[in-house]
Amino acid sequence: MKISPSILSADFTKLSKELKDIETAGADYVHIDVMDGRFVPNITIGPFIVEAIKRVASIPLDVHLMIEEPERYVDAFADAGSDIITVHAEATKHLHKVVQSIKERGKLAGVSINPATPVNTLEDIMNDVDLILIMSVNPGFSGQGFIPYAIRKIEQVRSMINEVGRPIELEVDGGIKVNNIKEVARAGADVFVSGSGVFGTPDYKKTIDAMKAELASI
Ligand code: DX5
Ligand code: ZN
Repeated sequence: MKISPSILSADFTKLSKELKDIETAGADYVHIDVMDGRFVPNITIGPFIVEAIKRVASIPLDVHLMIEEPERYVDAFADAGSDIITVHAEATKHLHKVVQSIKERGKLAGVSINPATPVNTLEDIMNDVDLILIMSVNPGFSGQGFIPYAIRKIEQVRSMINEVGRPIELEVDGGIKVNNIKEVARAGADVFVSGSGVFGTPDYKKTIDAMKAELASI
């Protein structure tokens, strides 16, 4: 079970300190939300900032690309030092090809689906991916509420992973906090993204400890 705090909710005027603070607090990954103003309404960060984060981070960079035609930027984000590169199934006509190109760069390849995208979209890519990311909010902004029917999708993807029998991480992103992380884990998730649920709290260590205690109590 891994916690991946999303830096979208961090204070960008002191990003280096924020990163150190979540590492000290026990974060397993750092989740980096890349948005292009087309796939989602918001615009956030590009490879230049990812490269800067890589210089100060000592945990893996979990890079979530919410961009159209992500194939155009795989090399740039790989060069910037991403460890996991996740693309949206809805954002490319050539999902298999983009997943292969991420793996050819020696990175872990993730595929994400939006709340209204059915899990069967993932069926034919199960043999190639290292991570599946289920969105439990509509991508674009942090601080939104968890969409309850994501639970059923997590359960379905967990069975699909068990069926293929490959080591695929099942990550969930959006609206996860100390008070609902257990329910998400029970459905079968093993990587938990949390933006406002970590950075919006006064003591990151206390929060991540509380999340891990919830996970340990299952
Ligand atoms: C949403 C992003 C999320 C977001 C999560 O588009 O992909 O990673 O930062 O933030 P919270 O945990 O506040 O919903
Ligand atoms: Zn994200």
